[in-house]
This record gives sequence, structure tokens and C-alpha cells, in this order.
Amino acid sequence: MNLKLHHVNILTPDVEGSIAFYRDKLGMCLAARMYQEGLYDIAFLRDGPASVEFAIELVGPPFVGWMAEMFEKHGPLMDHFSFVTDDVDGWYEKLQASEVEFLMPPTPYLTVKEMYFRDACGAIVEVMEFLDPSLAVTAPQVSPSSGLEYRLHHISIVCHDIPALEHFYAQELGLTTIYEDREDGYIFIADPAVLLAGGDNIAPTIEIMGPPGIEPREEAFLAKYGPGIDHLCFTVNDVDAAYENLSAEGVHFDMEPADSWGTRVAFFKDPNGIDVELILPVPPEVIESK
Ligand SMILES: [Fe+2]
Ligand SMILES: [Fe+2]
Repeated sequence: MNLKLHHVNILTPDVEGSIAFYRDKLGMCLAARMYQEGLYDIAFLRDGPASVEFAIELVGPPFVGWMAEMFEKHGPLMDHFSFVTDDVDGWYEKLQASEVEFLMPPTPYLTVKEMYFRDACGAIVEVMEFLDPSLAVTAPQVSPSSGLEYRLHHISIVCHDIPALEHFYAQELGLTTIYEDREDGYIFIADPAVLLAGGDNIAPTIEIMGPPGIEPREEAFLAKYGPGIDHLCFTVNDVDAAYENLSAEGVHFDMEPADSWGTRVAFFKDPNGIDVELILPVPPEVIESK
């Protein structure tokens, strides 16, 4: 019953435009495209090096259920993130017993059986299982021509109470804390069984941020949306060069490259207004030492 992070979802009015942005500017690959007029409009993108089997899921209109409400209320945003498992019904039974709030019980949809629930701060989590495991494929590897290698690294949830959310993910999903800087208001959690994907490919993680210690950017997110998925992060081998390249292509940076949290950090906005963080690659020993 391992839980491997599979994707983070973005609700967007323009799937094709978002594909173009992540493909052309960050070297991501289109891993799957599902479209039926009036029914669904979905794309999965993996990072160019396919460093981990973690994807961005783009979903366009028509939105249904809570996604329609979320989009109407907030516009484009990250609606949920998703784990893949080999036993979605087993997880459903376990989580139901602990009275987790479900938005959808296990339901077959296209190539997967999926369910949705809320975590302790209200963020929406999907757990899914492939109906045909051969569909769980990785995109082919490409070499971005810029020499910059963007790798999906983490997604981040901003909440009011880090220990409460940390407890929820440990208790309900068995995720453990693999890195922490509580003074600066963040920790990283992951399923220890899937942490190291091999070599220097560190499996994607979930960052949990919260007061005290959070910065104005996160405070503004909390004020606007309440607790939820706040940003996604790529590592890139040269944050300053990435900043130069992307800025020259008209990408807007809210935070120019700066030394912070022991790495080099910058934040830009994707075409949906979603905050994307860039950091330097994290050496495996940083996490192994925990
Ligand atoms: Fe999803
Ligand atoms: Fe982050």
C-alpha cells in the first residue's frame, strides 16, 4: 500500500497554452493527453529528464463538482495533488474508519480508479490506482537545449498549524518528516518507502509551511485562499541563468534569485498565476542524514 506522489493538478482555462508554457520554457514532456469535446480536457506533463514519476496534471473546462465551484470562486489554481497506489479500496477502508472527509469514494474514471478526500487543513488529496498498470508510463527523456535541467521537486501546502497537518499525514497515510526547519516555518514529508528513486533522483516531496516564520508571500496566500496547495517547485542547475532566460521570454518573477534557506531561490508565475519556485538541486545526503 505504498503511496507515491503521482501528480499535482492545475485547473486552467487554457490547457494548450499551459502545455506550451511548461514544454517550451521548462522543457517538460507531454506524457498523456485526453480530450473529448464537452466532456474532458486533460494533459499530463513530466519534467524533461523524467527524473521522477511525478507529473503536472492540467485540467480544462468543463469543470464538474467541487472543481467547478473552486474555479468559479478563485479562477485558475492547484485543486489537488495525487498519490498512486496499488490498492485504492484498501486505503478507502482505512481512511473511512478514521472519519476522513471524503469528496468522492473510489470511482473508475478513464484509465484509473480514483478517490478524493480532504486533509486536516482542508487541502484536497486524490489517491488513485491504474486500471491497467501498463498505462503508468514515463515520458521519454529529452535534453533541454538551454542546458538548464528543470526537475519537479516538491509541492507545498500552506496551513495554520504545521504539527496538526504533520500528524494527519503520519497517522493517516504513513508519511514521515524527512527535513525540517521549524523556525523558518517549513517541513518536508514523504512516504519513506518511496523516498529515493535511485541515484540522485530524489522522489518528490510535500512541503508544509505555516506560522510562525512564514513570509509575506505565504501570508498573502492564506489570506486569499485559506489553507491549501500554494506552490510547486523545480530544481534547476543554475537558478540565475534560468531567471535570465525566463525573464527574457516575458515570464514574471515575484522574487528574483536570492540566497535563502541554504539554497538559491526564485519565484515566478505560470500563465495561470500559480507560484512556481526554483531552487538548486538538493544533494541526496541532505535528506539521508535525517
Ligand atoms: Fe488528479
Ligand atoms: Fe517550496
